[in-house]
Amino acid sequence: MEVHPAAALLLILSCFTVACYAHNVHLSTLNQSLIVTASATPGQVLKAGTDAITITWAFNPNLTVSDANYTTVEAKLCYAPVSQTGRDDRKTDDNLDFDKTCPFDITDEPYKRSNNTFIWTIPRDTPTATYFVRVYVINAKNHEIAYGQNTNASKATNLIQIDGVVSEQKDSAAWPVIGNSFGYYGFAWALMLILML
Ligand SMILES: *[C@@H]1O[C@H](CO)[C@@H](O)[C@H](O)[C@H]1NC(C)=O
Ligand SMILES: *[C@@H]1O[C@H](CO)[C@@H](O)[C@H](O)[C@H]1NC(C)=O
Ligand SMILES: *[C@@H]1O[C@H](CO)[C@@H](O)[C@H](O)[C@H]1NC(C)=O
Ligand SMILES: *[C@@H]1O[C@H](CO)[C@@H](O)[C@H](O)[C@H]1NC(C)=O
Ligand SMILES: *[C@@H]1O[C@H](CO)[C@@H](O)[C@H](O)[C@H]1NC(C)=O
Repeated sequence: MEVHPAAALLLILSCFTVACYAHNVHLSTLNQSLIVTASATPGQVLKAGTDAITITWAFNPNLTVSDANYTTVEAKLCYAPVSQTGRDDRKTDDNLDFDKTCPFDITDEPYKRSNNTFIWTIPRDTPTATYFVRVYVINAKNHEIAYGQNTNASKATNLIQIDGVVSEQKDSAAWPVIGNSFGYYGFAWALMLILML
């Protein structure tokens, strides 16, 4: 069996996009060792395409946790529970391979213990919703190993309201089913098989 060059390329590309982070990592097993803040004030509605959020993060030195293996951080914009109701395409899953809470990348940076600030202009195409900010810590093997977020455990405090574009739930049953049952690896393999036929 010959591997189609396009299929090989697709696999490599999918590795860069999703599969390399698909490692069966569960949020509940991570140390919540970063302190994260985001500048929005309660009640403020931020305009996508215009307004900015200032995000800060730092290692919490009071924990008995080591940051020896912390390599990079990824800051993400995440849907608050109020904007997840009735939306399977935004659903939270403890397994990060399937979690759809945090679809928007804010920034990727090398890990630094303190003094991290990033000013993020909210992209114009951000859906109108209520959000929070989560920062993941990644190790050298590209696994999430710790995190922090600017809200409390039930994701009720310090939420950020963004006025952006109206987004409808994608009305396609097939895609989420594939995504949920095989994971992204399965999805990449399925595409590869299709290309090889
Ligand atoms: C760490 O502990 C010190 C002393 O108890 C306290 O002043 C400080 O606010 C704590 N820092 C954090 C981030 O909790
Ligand atoms: C969380 O911190 C503890 C104490 O440093 C460590 O033993 C454990 O491996 C850490 N968990 C992860 C997922 O890195
Ligand atoms: C860092 O990673 C190494 C190799 O995986 C592991 O043996 C060690 O326990 C880790 N250290 C911490 C503090 O998590
Ligand atoms: C934090 O960054 C600012 C601006 O880059 C710098 O002036 C300051 O000295 C830094 N503080 C620490 C503790 O590294
Ligand atoms: C989060 O904050 C809300 C509002 O202050 C509070 O009702 C809720 O109990 C808190 N949840 C946790 C897990 O601390």
